Amino acid sequence: MLRLDRWLVTLGVGSRSEVQKLVRRGAVRVDGVAVTDPGKQVDERSAALTLQGQPLDGRLTRHVMLHKPAGLLTAARDKKQPTVMDLLPEAYASIGCMPVGRLDKDTTGLLLLTTDGELNHRLLAPGRHVDKTYRAQVDGELTQAHVEAFAAGLHLFDFDAQPALLEIIAPDTGLVTVHEGKFHQIKRMFSTVGREVTALHRLTFGSLTLDPALSEGQWRELTEDELAALYNDAHMEGPQP
Ligand code: URA
Repeated sequence: MLRLDRWLVTLGVGSRSEVQKLVRRGAVRVDGVAVTDPGKQVDERSAALTLQGQPLDGRLTRHVMLHKPAGLLTAARDKKQPTVMDLLPEAYASIGCMPVGRLDKDTTGLLLLTTDGELNHRLLAPGRHVDKTYRAQVDGELTQAHVEAFAAGLHLFDFDAQPALLEIIAPDTGLVTVHEGKFHQIKRMFSTVGREVTALHRLTFGSLTLDPALSEGQWRELTEDELAALYNDAHMEGPQP
């Protein structure tokens, strides 16, 4: 249960005083009944909201699969540059739906966003990292020697990358599966073996696979099965209702 005005503020409807005015004017209905007391306690998990006659999605929990396009920062907000949050309705940022980890500005592909801070944290915690698969195109040919170097674990200047699987799918393109998620990890791994990444695309994140029906910039909420598998990846019970 929470106060109606607090719920509306969290959903990004307006400031505290703005939503209080709306409620007092009778613009908000809860389960079909106009509620004019902004302080009324309502059950945010079950109550149906309308605002000025239009249904208002009151969920405070969201889990999103986004097909990130190139050119957007993976950040909750940025003063100068557009971010992945610009692709979602404003309410998602208001309720704290945040990217899980980062993709570089020029990287495309699967990005998970969630309101569950504990899930976010656990999926990224060192030692708990989930597998991620990337398709990397590079500026030259890939060879068996590269596959072996990745499998042996690469020595980067500030850390030793764990053994990673590299599968060559075209002369200049590989699928790489890593268990870690260090800054620019894939680009730096290729750089170490003398190849520069010219295009990077993430296909999987833990048990999630990028939905091929999503084109760049499109997103959808996770299905119940995807969500259950993801919580399992994070060794968490859930999702919480
Ligand atoms: N590794 C990189 O180098 N960049 C990304 O965006 C993700 C992994």
